[in-house]
Formats: sequence, C-alpha cells, structure tokens
Amino acid sequence: MSRLADFTSRVTPIINKAAAQHATPFYLTDEGRLSEAASILESAFPEPWVRSYSLKADPLPPVVKLLAQRGWGANCVSIGEIAAAREAGIPNSRITLEGIGKGEGEFDAAIHAASSGDPLRWVAIESFDEARALADAVAARGAVDGAAIRILVRLNPAIEPGTHSGLAVGRGSSKFGTDPTELLAAARIIAEAGAPLQLIGIHLHAGSQLRNLQEWQTAVERSLAAYAELVHGGLITDEVHRTSGTLCVGGGEPISLEPGNERLPTAADFCGAADAAWSGAPGVTPPIRAIEPGRALVAEATLLISRVLHVRERHETVLAPLALPGEAASACARQVILDAGMSELIRPALYGARHPLRAVAPRTASTILAALHGPICESTDALGAHHVPTDTARGDLFLIEGAGAYADAMWSSYNGRPRPARLMVGSAGVKVVRERSAEKF
Ligand SMILES: Cc1ncc(COP(=O)(O)O)c(C=O)c1O
Repeated sequence: MSRLADFTSRVTPIINKAAAQHATPFYLTDEGRLSEAASILESAFPEPWVRSYSLKADPLPPVVKLLAQRGWGANCVSIGEIAAAREAGIPNSRITLEGIGKGEGEFDAAIHAASSGDPLRWVAIESFDEARALADAVAARGAVDGAAIRILVRLNPAIEPGTHSGLAVGRGSSKFGTDPTELLAAARIIAEAGAPLQLIGIHLHAGSQLRNLQEWQTAVERSLAAYAELVHGGLITDEVHRTSGTLCVGGGEPISLEPGNERLPTAADFCGAADAAWSGAPGVTPPIRAIEPGRALVAEATLLISRVLHVRERHETVLAPLALPGEAASACARQVILDAGMSELIRPALYGARHPLRAVAPRTASTILAALHGPICESTDALGAHHVPTDTARGDLFLIEGAGAYADAMWSSYNGRPRPARLMVGSAGVKVVRERSAEKF
C-alpha cells in the first residue's frame, strides 16, 4: 500500500465523523503526516544545511508553527508572509525574503529590520532593476545605523527541469531570475551601494515537482560557477565569503500524486546531487548551503473532503494531462460534479495537475470511468478522468489527496464561494483551526 493510501485509510473514520459535523468542502490536515514529511527532509538535508519552509505552499498558522518548532526558518515573498512567520515565532534571523514582485512594503520591512539591528536572514533579488530600486530605497533613508541587508541574487539556470510547464521556472524563457550577465550587473549595483547592502551569494529555484535530477545538478553547478565569479571579481569579499557565503538551492522536491511506477527523485537524491556539484566545483564554493521546500513538506498531509452534487450519464473525452496517466485521452461514460473545485484546488485548472481522489466509503468494489468536475462556472474546473464506484450518488463523500500545497493558499471566492474550514488531526483529536467563512462579501 502506498504511503498516501495508508494515510487515507487511517483517516477514513475521522473523515466520516468530521463530515457529519462540518459542511463540505473542508481541508483535513494530519499533524503526524506533516511531521513525517519534515523529518524526511531533515534527514536528507542534515545540519549545517539551512532549512526554510516556503510559506507560499500553505501559510496556515498551525502548519507554520509546527515546522517552526522543529527549527525550520521561513521563506517569504511578501510582508503578509513575513507577518505569518513572525506570528509563528520565527525570528528575523531565520526569515528570508524573495519574490519577483517586491514592492515598497517588502523593501521597507527589510530596511527596517536591518536598521534596527535585527536583519532578515537574507533578501533574494530577481533583477538588475530590483537591485537598483533597493539600492535607491536604502540611499533615500540616508545614513542607516544597524546591520547590513544581506543579499542573494537569483540565477535563472536555463535548464529543462522536467516538470509541468507552469512550474518550470528554471527554464531560460521563464520570467524568474537573472542570466549571468544581468546577475553580474545586479551584483555590481549591490556592491556599489556600500555598507547598507552586503552581497553574500546566489539564490536558485529551478521549479516545482522536479523530475530531472541531472538537470537540477547542472543548475546547482551553474549557481556555484556564478558564485565563484562573484568572489573572484571581488564583488563578494574574501571575508564575506568565509563567514557568510551562501547558495540557496530553492525547493522543488517532488511528491508522488500519480499512480504508477514512476520513481521520483527523493530528497536524499537531491542532497546527493548537491554534494556532487559542490565537490566537483572547480572554483571557491560557498560554505553555507540552504534549501527552501514548500510542497514536499506540506502537500501530502492535507486532504480536501468533498461531496458529490450530481451524477449523470454523459460521454465525455478527457484530454491529457487530466486523462488517465499515460493516456492522451480518456473516454468517460459518466460525469460526476463535486462540491469542491478550482476555488479550493486550482492546480488542475491552472496547469493540468492530476490529484488522486476516491470515495471515502464505497458501497461496491465495481467501478466506472468518470469525468470529475468542480461546481464552478468555468470549463477548466475539472479534476480529470478517475475510476469511481458504479453506484456513486449525490451526497457521497470523496477525498482528494495531496491538497496541502498551493490549494487553500490559492483559494478564491469566485462564484461567491465561502472559504472552507480547516481541520487538523493530532494527538488531541480533531480540531477546527479555521472556521468556514460566511457566505457573503
Ligand atoms: C523561489 C522559490 N523557492 C521555493 C519554492 C517552493 O517550491 P516547492 O513548493 O516546489 O518546494 C518556490 C515555489 O514557487 C519558489 O518560487
């Protein structure tokens, strides 16, 4: 039995009870599963690796707190996420800031933290233009006492990450990061800004659900080469190199959502590839190594619980990527409409991600291939072709797996949808950690 199937059968009685008390759809997060995922990553990337959780995957306070209590730092993209990290008890010294669209609020947060002597761990910048804007914002403050803002510059590694197009941010054609020429120009701006800014290294994130480990290793090698060039060119000083030189390799460790025999690279494989890149690097290498996973920490710990609204006979052809795995198209004889859709789990509509789903308490073992849809007025609100019990009927409970990352975090109120409740299962039983929102604006 797969780890996911094992987890879902363990929580089935809990789901039945919770669904009797709470309106569907709702999310159900298992603390044990969350801790298990964290401990896999902690063993794969042992200290002195710097480990930060990318809050964008799921900023729910109890989730962030559980990881903070295990020693994880926070990787944030906005002042909202910085506030969530602080609320979970994470100090500035373990908060990093990145993101392609930082505004004045994010700059102010970084400047204020540094000038009060309690700087963020680092700020990763994405472009020459951003480097200049940050240098200007710092200069506009006049002389600043306190600590420097430590800076990483994000490299676009120009690789083929082997993932959904929508997640392949390490491709040269994506909007993220700098090529080596722009990286050098951004580094010069930081160096010229003097004391308030301190360049300490390189930021990399090659994409999410990464399947091509060799390409990822190439991305790390390119980042190490860029780092060595900054040291050789004096843009990172020898002193800074020795004490704070850093390469953050980002996140992207994949989780298995599709049935089949595909062997995904494990977190330990990623660490092995990083080790190989570090030990094979011809130039100086940064002493500090960092990761910032999101999905691999939280995705498998949360289920989305939904009820069937309607069932009807309707011949539909579901096309790849939402067809059955390995098929270009799946001919379905039946249509099932659930009460959860793209407002609670946008990944299928956004980039064709498939999530396993199943009936919580099937009355029969016989199944039929059905096209599963959400209730939203968009034809992309679809969950794909799945085998469901032949007697599936209105009111039946379904669970959708892998709904802990980029699901609730990307929730939308489109079509007047209330925000679902969040339930957590822990040693003290089931708790409601966020009530369902009211159905009004
Ligand atoms: C810069 C950066 N780091 C880390 C992550 C986390 O990625 P994942 O959830 O695939 O681990 C992301 C996700 O978008 C990101 O953009």
